[in-house]
Amino acid sequence: MNHLKREIKEKSLKYHIITYGCQMNSHESEKIAGLLEEMGYGPADSKEDADFILFNTCCVRENAEQKTFGNVGRIKKLKLKNKDLLVAVCGCMMQQKQAAQKLLDTFPFVDIVFGTHNIHELPNMILAVKEKHERVYQAPELTELHDDVPQKRAAGPLASVNIMYGCNNFCSYCIVPYVRGRERSRNAEEIIREIAELSPHGYREVMLLGQNVNSYDGGIGFPQLLTRICEETDIPRIRFMTSHPKDLSDELISVIGRYPQICRHIHLPVQSGSSRILREMNRNYTREAYIGLVEKIRKNIPGIAITTDIIVGFPGETEADFADTLSLVREIRFDSAFTFVYSPRSGTRAAEMPDQIGEEIQSKRIIELVALQNEITEQRNREYVGKTLEVLVEGISTRDPGHMCGRTSTSKMVNFPGPPSLTGEFADIKITQGKKTTLFGEMIKEEP
Ligand code: SAH
Ligand code: SF4
Ligand code: F3S
Repeated sequence: MNHLKREIKEKSLKYHIITYGCQMNSHESEKIAGLLEEMGYGPADSKEDADFILFNTCCVRENAEQKTFGNVGRIKKLKLKNKDLLVAVCGCMMQQKQAAQKLLDTFPFVDIVFGTHNIHELPNMILAVKEKHERVYQAPELTELHDDVPQKRAAGPLASVNIMYGCNNFCSYCIVPYVRGRERSRNAEEIIREIAELSPHGYREVMLLGQNVNSYDGGIGFPQLLTRICEETDIPRIRFMTSHPKDLSDELISVIGRYPQICRHIHLPVQSGSSRILREMNRNYTREAYIGLVEKIRKNIPGIAITTDIIVGFPGETEADFADTLSLVREIRFDSAFTFVYSPRSGTRAAEMPDQIGEEIQSKRIIELVALQNEITEQRNREYVGKTLEVLVEGISTRDPGHMCGRTSTSKMVNFPGPPSLTGEFADIKITQGKKTTLFGEMIKEEP
């Protein structure tokens, strides 16, 4: 390994990572970057000047998979130009044997393929390719945790921390439990230690990650973990995702209410407004239970924003079922929603169900749902006009270089004129305009 490290340093080899999928994947790419930098690789500006290109893949919907195949294919020409170039593909899609095999067969220039359980083995895989000139393909399912790897966090005030891996819920449409394995929670002490080290390094907000944080069990439960993070670390803001509605406890609601550090935002995927479809989805709650839960959360934590995920066109979804989803969206008035067309995933129960819905109906339904939610999102954003909100400034706005952007505790993106030196600071912003995706405002000057 030392020999390899020397070679990487001498040639100043560089890496480039392309990440698809959710925040879990983005965070794992930070770990991969940490491992590569420990081996001596430096960050490249683009694929074109990289000597190690890695694709971290997602397979939650079919279009995520198609994108990967297209983009990996385009790397071939770079491989012909640079004989040092190694190409690796990892992540959820590669945890599936069939998809991994298809990728290996289609692209003989891919050197390394690995899954979601063995990121820590990457240095050894690189060593094997460099020394034995062999392709490496490893996607075991491990039950123990191997998350003690260096991390290279993205620049800025936001940090992600994984609190648990895997999922036991087996929603009938979802591939995640198959590619991420069973639930494994990290030890609470380790998590707290990791978070305690964030603020001295300039981080101001932590996102706790897990497929279902409510079932965290690292010696203590999730509400206790949040309590300890609030009591024992000085991180000013804490977020988490995702919460499953079936087991969001009263205790969790009261902990969120008690600590102002915990952001006033819950992402609570509902998936459908029809109790019948929810049962087919194996979600373990009804429409009524979901609505009751939202009422309880709003009553106990005033001003909290609630966002959601919704799937349309699940097998057997009738016009009446879809109307139930629309009426739920109207009744709850989510702050925003991620909306998806159902995508059959092979190996899941829903993929085998009769009455798969045709594309035409699916696209009609998603258009109608998106239009409704957009209207509600914009109305809700307009309700912020005139209010002054605390914003954690994340950096220069991508839309307008004279503006800065950041989020409120309720996770609304805010743009306002201000200097880049505000990055990482909290600023009080008076909201002047509420648009579909963004609030606009101006900074309240502090008294000298
Ligand atoms: N564990 C989280 C996130 C899972 S994936 C949760 O349970 O909320 C994120 C979202 O993708 C899901 O909430 C769901 O809305 C969507 N999704 C998952 N599988 C899908 C599929 N087969 N087709 C369409 N959307 C899907
Ligand atoms: Fe998928 Fe359901 Fe697990 Fe979320 S809770 S990852 S939707 S199986
Ligand atoms: Fe995330 Fe996609 Fe995997 S949503 S958990 S990267 S399948």
